[in-house]
Amino acid sequence: MLFEMSRSADGFKWFKNSTAFLAKSAGSGHTQALLRVRYNATAATQLDSNGRIIAGSIFPEGSLIVKELIEQPGVLARYAILYKQKDHRYADAKGWVWGYINVDGTVAETAANKGEACSSCHSQSANIDYQLMNKYFP
Ligand code: HEC
Repeated sequence: MLFEMSRSADGFKWFKNSTAFLAKSAGSGHTQALLRVRYNATAATQLDSNGRIIAGSIFPEGSLIVKELIEQPGVLARYAILYKQKDHRYADAKGWVWGYINVDGTVAETAANKGEACSSCHSQSANIDYQLMNKYFP
C-alpha cells in the first residue's frame, strides 16, 4: 500500500519547490548518494512558500512524505516513506508509519518494525515531527 501511494509524484510538492537532486548530508543514514523529497497535498500544508517545513509543525493525518533515494541521475533505487495514520497497525507513538521500499517493490525494511531502525536517528535535535530536511538543507 505504501509503495502504491508513493510511486507517482502527481499532486506532490517538493522540498524547497525543487525537483533537483541533492547530495545526501553528512548525517544521513541512507546509502544512496542523491535524494529529493516530496510531500502530498496534506503534508504540504506544513510547508512555507519556499517549500521548507514550518517550525513546530505537527503533520496532520494522511500526510505522506516520500524521499526518493537515487544512486546516480536516472537510477532511482528506493523510497523512504513517512505516512501519518495513527490508527494504522504499524503506526508508531507519533502516528507515523515508516516505509523503506525498493523501486521493484521489494521491501528494504518492513513497516511492521514501526521505524525502529529509523526513529532514533530521526529523533535527533532540531527534528520537526521527525523531519530532518530543514536541519541538513537549511
Ligand atoms: C543515521 C541517521 C538516519 C537513519 C538511521 C535513517 N535516516 Fe532517514 N534521514 C536522515 C537524514 C540526515 C535525512 C535528511 C536527508 C539526507 O541527508 O539523507 C533523512 C531523510 C529522511 C526522509 C525525508 C524526510 C525528512 O525530512 O526527514 C525520510 C522519509 C526518511 N529519512 C526515512 C527514513 C526511514 C524510513 C528510515 C529507516 C528505514 C530512516 N530514514 C533511517 C537520517 C537517517
